[in-house]
Amino acid sequence: MRYPVQMPSLRDLQTPLVVIDAPTMQRNLARMAEAAAAGGKRLRPHAKTHKSVWIARRQLDAGAVGLCCAKPGEAEIFAAAGVDDLRVAYPLSPTYASRVLALMDRCRFSTIVDSLEVARGWSDVMVAAGRQLEVLVKVDSGLHRCGIDPLQHDAVGFVEQVSRLPGLSLQGLLSHPGHSYGATSRSEIEGIARDERALLVELADAVRVRGVEVREISVGSTPTALISASLDGITELRPGNYVFHDRTQVGLGVARWSDCALRVHASVVSMPAADRLILDAGSKVLSSDGGRGFGETPGYGAVLNERGSPDPSLLIERLSEEHAVVRLSGPSSLRIGDRVTIVPNHACVVANLTSTCVLADGEQVLERLPVDARGLVN
Ligand SMILES: Cc1ncc(COP(=O)(O)O)c(C=O)c1O
Repeated sequence: MRYPVQMPSLRDLQTPLVVIDAPTMQRNLARMAEAAAAGGKRLRPHAKTHKSVWIARRQLDAGAVGLCCAKPGEAEIFAAAGVDDLRVAYPLSPTYASRVLALMDRCRFSTIVDSLEVARGWSDVMVAAGRQLEVLVKVDSGLHRCGIDPLQHDAVGFVEQVSRLPGLSLQGLLSHPGHSYGATSRSEIEGIARDERALLVELADAVRVRGVEVREISVGSTPTALISASLDGITELRPGNYVFHDRTQVGLGVARWSDCALRVHASVVSMPAADRLILDAGSKVLSSDGGRGFGETPGYGAVLNERGSPDPSLLIERLSEEHAVVRLSGPSSLRIGDRVTIVPNHACVVANLTSTCVLADGEQVLERLPVDARGLVN
């Protein structure tokens, strides 16, 4: 893509700013796309992280088969932008029938079920409309959020019953090992990825014995994705956060600081005490999400030094909406008006909080990127 010759520098823009470094993001996209291709997996990135049509196109250009979305509102934005394969990996109620039918007119659309009652509801809707809704059975692989738990329920019977409902076309099984974020070691993350694969593959095999076709085994989270890429039996990976990475991915050993494509640029606006300074990025920018990782991740993001690693003397101790209160534990050369770069704890929520990100190459501004599908909670 071509950019206008005279674009400002990031220094010319007022803070707080959510900045996406284009070369870093492109490297993240390429690394995941290459791993998926090398492992023979389809890549369906979760667009909840960026919610951007521009970034979705880069993912599709890099080989993604389609997108995963959290809510129909997000899917509607991407369908309108021409993305032709969308999966809402959320337990939708049939009250969404008219919107789902409209999405099915625009793209190949699929969703998940983990309740027979809901599956029957969708079956009735689709039979009445003379349509076939592609569904995957959501399996709980340990996060204990949604999904049928094969250790507790007759999962084989459940999948078989869903497969026999008219108006539904069972595609396969889907899980999200979000408990990988609570892992305390690399080997625990590897174990979670392997256990997720074993659970789904064994369930699929047991279901196939009953004559039910299971085409798709869709797994994914960013911490496990590169491991799952090389495991057999899996057909699809759905990482989301990998496009940006964040302090949590660094804490989990999944990314380096230099892989963190999304950063918040903030300015010192007040230095009311020797051991305290105030930045202009509060919870409305950084969000109040804590960090995760194998070690301690105190505070609301990592303030980087000139070498691009966290400055241990600066702790973002407290946030109010517009202020970050930074505790200084050593001498600091920062003065009012100085700018700092922060790697947030959780990049997905930061992107959802701003209407526009700035796409940059180092200090050079390339363009302003709207967060097209932000705030679409239904
Ligand atoms: C159902 C589902 N699939 C995939 C993902 C992507 O996971 P991650 O953000 O770790 O890449 C998420 C994230 O919340 C999710 O909820």
